[in-house]
Amino acid sequence: MDFNEVLFKRRSIRKYQDQQVEEEKKMKLLKAAMAAPSAGNQQPWHFIVVEDDSRKEDIREIHPYSDMLAEAPLAILVCGDKREERHKGFWVQDCSAAVQNMLLMAENLGLGAVWLGVYPREERAEKFQELFSLPKEVIPLAVVAVGHPAEESGKVDRFKEGRIHQESWQN
Ligand SMILES: Cc1cc2nc3c(=O)[nH]c(=O)nc-3n(C[C@H](O)[C@H](O)[C@H](O)COP(=O)(O)O)c2cc1C
Repeated sequence: MDFNEVLFKRRSIRKYQDQQVEEEKKMKLLKAAMAAPSAGNQQPWHFIVVEDDSRKEDIREIHPYSDMLAEAPLAILVCGDKREERHKGFWVQDCSAAVQNMLLMAENLGLGAVWLGVYPREERAEKFQELFSLPKEVIPLAVVAVGHPAEESGKVDRFKEGRIHQESWQN
């Protein structure tokens, strides 16, 4: 797909067809995630692939805005491993870049996806740590719900000239 189409047509998709995400597409999502930039190339990410319905149901019980997981065939939990950090505190930006790469690859593959925030909601993150038996240094940042889209992803224009400042805030 044309890069401009991918970038500007990507929207959050929360309705999915009753169809599994193909193994090959799943791997492309994970490869895209791990191609992301990271501070000092520290790559602190880990990905937990969730396809089991009862596991998705467990997530719905602890994440208040994740009802789409009742339909989504695939959920990928993106975690940052603080033990991999040489540049303290940057794991959030590293893992966010990985999430965005995954969303763009999903659009490119004709899939629909949505980012579900976990960290920095402490209580939510703790529940995910418990549910997925994560080591205490491994922090869940987000869940990406993925499936074959059953709703349209319309283009939107969010460009705001006023958000651009030349050389300093005043200009
Ligand atoms: C950090 C973050 C957390 C989000 N958490 C949720 C969520 O919990 N549930 C949800 O349905 N959408 C969530 N979203 C998706 C946003 O609602 C969505 O990106 C925003 O409304 C813009 O719409 P668009 O993605 O279609 O362009 C999240 C997005 C980000 C970046």
